[in-house]
Amino acid sequence: MEDHWGRERLAESILAALAAADHDRGPLTIDDLAVTDEFHGGGKAATVRLATLLGARPGLRVLDVGGGLGGPARTLAVEFGCHVTVVDLTESYVQAARMLTTRLALDHRVRHHVGNALDLPFHDGAFDVVWTQNSGMNIADKDALYRGFHRVLRPGGLLALQEPMAGPLQPPVFPVMWARDASTSFLRTPAEMRGLIARAGFRERAWDDVTAETAGPASADAIPAHSAQRLIMGEALDEIIRANHRNRTEGRLVLVQAVFERGSVHVSSGGYVPAGAPRGGTGTRAPAPRARSR
Ligand SMILES: C[S@@+](CC[C@H](N)C(=O)[O-])C[C@H]1O[C@@H](n2cnc3c(N)ncnc32)[C@H](O)[C@@H]1O
Repeated sequence: MEDHWGRERLAESILAALAAADHDRGPLTIDDLAVTDEFHGGGKAATVRLATLLGARPGLRVLDVGGGLGGPARTLAVEFGCHVTVVDLTESYVQAARMLTTRLALDHRVRHHVGNALDLPFHDGAFDVVWTQNSGMNIADKDALYRGFHRVLRPGGLLALQEPMAGPLQPPVFPVMWARDASTSFLRTPAEMRGLIARAGFRERAWDDVTAETAGPASADAIPAHSAQRLIMGEALDEIIRANHRNRTEGRLVLVQAVFERGSVHVSSGGYVPAGAPRGGTGTRAPAPRARSR
């Protein structure tokens, strides 16, 4: 995955691109950064939409899984008053995210860690909200992923997700933003996603197909040089955007925003297990967080 997502000297490239776009005079704002750090379909508007669907409010302890460059986390902190812990597998993103969070003087409300969504390095019940936006597409073992979300949420906590899913016509046209070919793309249909999230112990509160309202441009011409898409995908972006347009208009990909509530039990391979109980062989967890921090 590091090979697909990671980029050398990303923080420096972002600063240079912001300067070239004239965003380096005076203090940076989250709106100056939105084109660069909201790395998902629909941009910052989609983040605000999902936060509103969730009912985000001051003081919530949010874990953003696969939080990338940290745009959604900083929006949750600045516009909704949340305290956000971000975990992402890609080291260059975490470094760039920390740099941007410090530039916006948000270190007291947004923390960044390198870590794997499939092995979340946090205590059971440590968060009020798990937030994940366009991050599960490379993950094959979605049952384990959602079991992990359930484990780190407190009873009654909420899961907010934005996720590309398999549309009625398969397969998708490649390359897509997260994969050059089918070998690293693991999408499920909306029905399959609802089933596996329910099996992990969640109750559905909201489910919105946002494919039409988050549709991006049909060609990459309109995408600025300081966007995350351009900085990270480089010349590959034009083909990705053409494929994305086909995938959406031909019904090969759909984008969903949803909110779920954590139930008090989850289903493991061994049957129902009371939430928070030690799982076979794994024992209790180390104090949260044990992720690599700054
Ligand atoms: C398209 S980006 C989305 C970033 C961010 N959520 C946003 O919307 O701006 C996908 C992110 O998922 C991260 N990712 C992929 N697999 C992961 C895993 N197993 N654990 C943690 N992060 C992962 C990638 O490093 C990348 O930052």
